[in-house]
Amino acid sequence: MRVALVGTGTIAGIHAEALRGLGDRVDLVAGVDVDGTLARSFCRAHGIPYAGTDLADVLDRTRPDLVHVCTPPGAHLEAARTALAYGAHVLVEKPPTLTLRQFAELEAASSHSGRHVAAVFQHRFGSGARRLRALHDAGVLGRPLLAVCHTTWYRSQEYFDVPWRGRWDTEGGGPTMGHGIHQMDLLLAILGEWTQVSAVARRQARDVDTEDLSLAHVSFANGCVASVVNSVLSPREQSYLRFDFAKATIELTHLYGYGEDAWRVTPVPGHEEEVLSAWHGGERGVPSGHKAQFAAVLDALTSGGRPPVTLAEARRTMRLVAAIYASAFTGRPIGAADLGPGSDFYERMQGAGPPWRIVARQEVA
Ligand SMILES: NC(=O)c1ccc[n+]([C@@H]2O[C@H](COP(=O)([O-])OP(=O)(O)OC[C@H]3O[C@@H](n4cnc5c(N)ncnc54)[C@H](O)[C@@H]3O)[C@@H](O)[C@H]2O)c1
Repeated sequence: MRVALVGTGTIAGIHAEALRGLGDRVDLVAGVDVDGTLARSFCRAHGIPYAGTDLADVLDRTRPDLVHVCTPPGAHLEAARTALAYGAHVLVEKPPTLTLRQFAELEAASSHSGRHVAAVFQHRFGSGARRLRALHDAGVLGRPLLAVCHTTWYRSQEYFDVPWRGRWDTEGGGPTMGHGIHQMDLLLAILGEWTQVSAVARRQARDVDTEDLSLAHVSFANGCVASVVNSVLSPREQSYLRFDFAKATIELTHLYGYGEDAWRVTPVPGHEEEVLSAWHGGERGVPSGHKAQFAAVLDALTSGGRPPVTLAEARRTMRLVAAIYASAFTGRPIGAADLGPGSDFYERMQGAGPPWRIVARQEVA
C-alpha cells in the first residue's frame, strides 16, 4: 500500500512511526505540508522520499493508494476531497470534520469517488476493547445498565498558543470535540445508538472560545445510561471508562493508550467462571494505538472491505458531540432527530453560540 501523509506536525510523527512498524505492507511515499521547511525536515527524519507543499501535485507525482490526513481539523475536508478526487482512499484524523454539515459533505465526496474514508479512533483497536465488544455482542456480560466515560485531562493555557486550538472555527470545539471524543467513540462502539443527551458546558478557566469542560448524561437505545465528562482542567489526568453490565463491571483506566493491565473485570458473584473464562479466552496482547488501527485499515483495504472506523460509525460519535453542545447551549434535552440540516448545531458545533462572549484573539493578547 502506497501511503502519503498530509500535515506533517505532531501527530504525523506518530503516524509515520506506526506505519514503519507495519514493515513492508506499507510504502510511505510522500509528506505534504503548507510549510515546506517542515515537510522537508519531516520527510528527512522519517526516510520519506518525497516532500511537497501542494497535495494535488504530490498525488500526481507519487500516486499513493491511501492518504492520511493529519492537518488541523479545519483543513481535513479539503485535503480529503483532493485525495478522493485523485482516486486515493483516505484515513482522516479526529475529529473528521468541524461540523455535521461538513461531515455529510465528506460522506458525499466518498460515495461520489467510490473510495473509502475512515476516521482515526485508535482506542477501538486494542485487544481489550475488541474483546469487550465481542463478549457484549455474544451476550456473555448480560444487559448494559450504567456506564461512565470520563476524560479528565489537563492542558495549561500555553497549550492553546497553537493558533488553531481552542477555537470553534478551526478546532470545532473544546475537550468534548478534541479530547473526550476518543473515549466517547469507544463508549459508542460498545453501547451502540444513543437516544437522548442532557448536558452542560462551561468555559471555566482557560482563555479560549470553546468550552473547557462539559458534563452529560446520555441514554442509549439498549436502555443503558451513561455519565460523560470531558475536561482539560483536571491536574490528576485520567481516561476512565466503566460499564456495569448485569453480570460484571468492566473498567478501563489509562491516559492516552492502554494495554492489558489497564482493564479490570469484577463479575457478579455466581458468574465468575462464565465471565472470567470468556474474558481471558479472547484475543489478547495488542495495545490500543495508531499501529493497531492502521493494521486493521490495511487488512480491510487489501481484502476489498470497508476500512474502520467507517464514516457511519464516526457520524454517531460526531452527532453525540453535537448533541452535548446543543443541549448545553439550549438548556434542553437533545434527541437524535434534533440535529438534522435545519438545526444550528448541524451548521456549527456551537450552534447560535455559547452563552459566553467569544473574544477575538487580538483582544485576548
Ligand atoms: N488521534 C490522536 O490521538 C490525536 C492526537 C493529537 C492530534 N490529533 C489530531 O491530529 C490533527 C493534527 O494535530 P497536530 O497536533 O499534529 O497538529 P500540528 O499543528 O502539530 O500539525 C498540523 C500540521 O498541518 C500543517 N497544515 C495546516 N494546514 C494544512 C493544509 N491545508 N495542508 C497541509 N498541511 C497543513 C501545519 O503546517 C502543521 O505542520 C488534528 O486533527 C488533531 O485533532 C489526533
